[in-house]
Amino acid sequence: MVEIVGGIATTHVPSIGKAIAENKHNDPYWKPFFAGFDYVHRWLADARPDVAVVFYNDHGLNFFLDKLPTFAIGAAKEYRNEDEGWGIPVSHAIAGDPALSWHLINGLIADGFDMTVCQEMLVDHAVTIPLALMWPAAAQSGAWPVKIVPVEINTVQHPLPSVARCLDLGRSIGRALETYPQDLRVVVIGTGGLSHQLDGERAGFINKDFDRMCMDELAKAPETIARYSIHDLVEQAGAQGVELLNWMAMRGALTGAVVEVHRNYHIPVSNTAGATMVFENRPRPNLKAA
Ligand code: DHB
Ligand code: FE
Repeated sequence: MVEIVGGIATTHVPSIGKAIAENKHNDPYWKPFFAGFDYVHRWLADARPDVAVVFYNDHGLNFFLDKLPTFAIGAAKEYRNEDEGWGIPVSHAIAGDPALSWHLINGLIADGFDMTVCQEMLVDHAVTIPLALMWPAAAQSGAWPVKIVPVEINTVQHPLPSVARCLDLGRSIGRALETYPQDLRVVVIGTGGLSHQLDGERAGFINKDFDRMCMDELAKAPETIARYSIHDLVEQAGAQGVELLNWMAMRGALTGAVVEVHRNYHIPVSNTAGATMVFENRPRPNLKAA
C-alpha cells in the first residue's frame, strides 16, 4: 500500500542553482531562504519517501509554445535535465517509476483528465532546483534517494487550467496513489510561486497579502483559493505567480488530515516571493476509528 507521507511546496527560481554552485548558503542575501530548508531536511529524514510525485511547470525545455499540453505526466525510466541557458549546472538524471506512472495515468484518464503521456521527458529547473534544495548531497553525487513521477501543468500559454481543476487533478492522483498495491512511501511536491512577475509593466510585482492568504488557507481550506479565476490569479499573484497551480495540485493529492508543519517566506529570491511549506498527511480521525 502507498503511504502519502506529506507534501512540500517550494519556489524554483533558477538563480538558487547558481547560489548552490557557488556555495552561497550563508551569504546574507541567501541565508534567510536556505535556512528554511533545515526543517525540510529533518522532516524528509523522518518521512523517508521512496517516490516523489512532482507537480511543476515546464518553461520551454521539454515543451514549447508550438506544442504545449495543458496537463502532462512522465512515464519514463529516467528524466534528464539539459542546459536551459540560466548559467547553472546541469542536474544529474533521476530515475522514474514507470509502473507507478502508468497506474496514475489509468486513474487520471478514468477520472476524465486526458493527460499527455511522456515516455521521454526532459525536466527543467522547476524540477531540478526543488530536488537539489531537498536532497543537497544527492544533487552533488547523483545518488537520489527517490524516484520521481513528474506531472506538468501549463502555466505559460493561456488559457490555463483553472485553479479548481488543478486541485482536482491532485485529488485524482491522491485517489490513484491510495489504490496502488505496492508498499511505497510517497511525498508530493508542488513547485514555483509564490507571487512574481518577470515581464511587462508590472515586472517585479509581489503581493505579500495574497501570498499570506494562500499559505494560510492551503492546509485547511484550499477551496477558498480555488474560487479565484485565472485572471484574478494573474492580477493578485503576477503573471508567473500562477505557478501556484502546482501548489494547488500538490495540496489536492494529500488525501488525509492535512497539517501545516513548516513555512518559510522570504522576499526577494531573485524576482520572486520565495516560499517553502511542508504539510503532513495524517490519517483522518474517522478512518482511525473505523
Ligand atoms: C524566476 C522565477 C521563476 O519562477 C522562474 O521560472 C524563472 C526565474 C526569477 O524570479 O528570477
Ligand atoms: Fe518559474
